[in-house]
Amino acid sequence: MAMPKITVDQNKCKRDGLCVLVCPEQVFEQSDKTKIPAIVRADICLSCGHCVAICPHGAIAHESVPSSRIRPIVQQKLPTPEQLEHLICVRRSVRAFKDTPVATEVIETILNGARRAPSANNRPTKYIVIQDRAVLARIRDLTAGYFKKNLRPLGNRIIQRLLLAFAKESMEDAIHLLPDFRMLVESAERGADPVLHNAPVLIIFHAKSSLSFAAVNANLALQNAWLVAQSLGVGALYTGYVQATCERDSRISKLLEIPRGHRVFASLAIGYPSVRFANWIEKEPLSVRWV
Ligand SMILES: Cc1cc2nc3c(=O)[nH]c(=O)nc-3n(C[C@H](O)[C@H](O)[C@H](O)COP(=O)(O)O)c2cc1C
Repeated sequence: MAMPKITVDQNKCKRDGLCVLVCPEQVFEQSDKTKIPAIVRADICLSCGHCVAICPHGAIAHESVPSSRIRPIVQQKLPTPEQLEHLICVRRSVRAFKDTPVATEVIETILNGARRAPSANNRPTKYIVIQDRAVLARIRDLTAGYFKKNLRPLGNRIIQRLLLAFAKESMEDAIHLLPDFRMLVESAERGADPVLHNAPVLIIFHAKSSLSFAAVNANLALQNAWLVAQSLGVGALYTGYVQATCERDSRISKLLEIPRGHRVFASLAIGYPSVRFANWIEKEPLSVRWV
């Protein structure tokens, strides 16, 4: 990231030191409250915009945060805690979609939710939106094919013992999930779509694989996208089977022309639900240890 130009307007600055307090990289330094904060570490600035966002006097000019990116916070627009809790409670995985396209503006609103999620060191995730039916079908087939190929060795008792001996942690769950994998393969063979459930849109979350926390970033973005989708009446499904296939088989990444050095870290199928849940079901009770 190039070093951004940051300046503090001497006339507007009230020397409250708020920028010093919130900057995660200690870009600003203020020896005492009579002094204007000095820019001492612009070279490691993340361009997160905290300094500009905190300053009530508009005293900071940041090259990476032009005025077009600065918006006022409107308290009245925030959902109440009850509204937010209800949105979280009613979100469900949707596996029955209408054959109705999702308008570009609606997808953009969902992606805007995603891109506004936090990311380690402010390094955003990249997205691919797939609406082409043939490409969606190919992803479904490659995913089902991947599980079909691995079903036989995974189901073999001798191979199971060997896998458990050498990679107990990663294989235990895979063996536990064998009945699910079998169901997936059989259902695909019957001509159904157990991977994308005929969703009209698939969003792929990818990033440079060498970035720290790339998977976490992608999944935080995904959850934002999911909640925004829910608020718009758009259903979503975390397509973990696609994700698992991408991890070990490069064909989906090749099909989607994922850049070299990038990896798929999450994928979300979206579309209008063809069914409407009447109730929401309380999840398992909180498992927490207070220290
Ligand atoms: C990481 C992850 C991967 C998942 N992968 C799939 C998947 O490939 N197919 C599927 O039908 N559900 C998938 N799910 C959904 C879960 O299996 C589960 O049904 C769901 O989280 C529980 O219901 P809810 O989302 O409606 O609360 C996945 C969920 C997560 C968090």
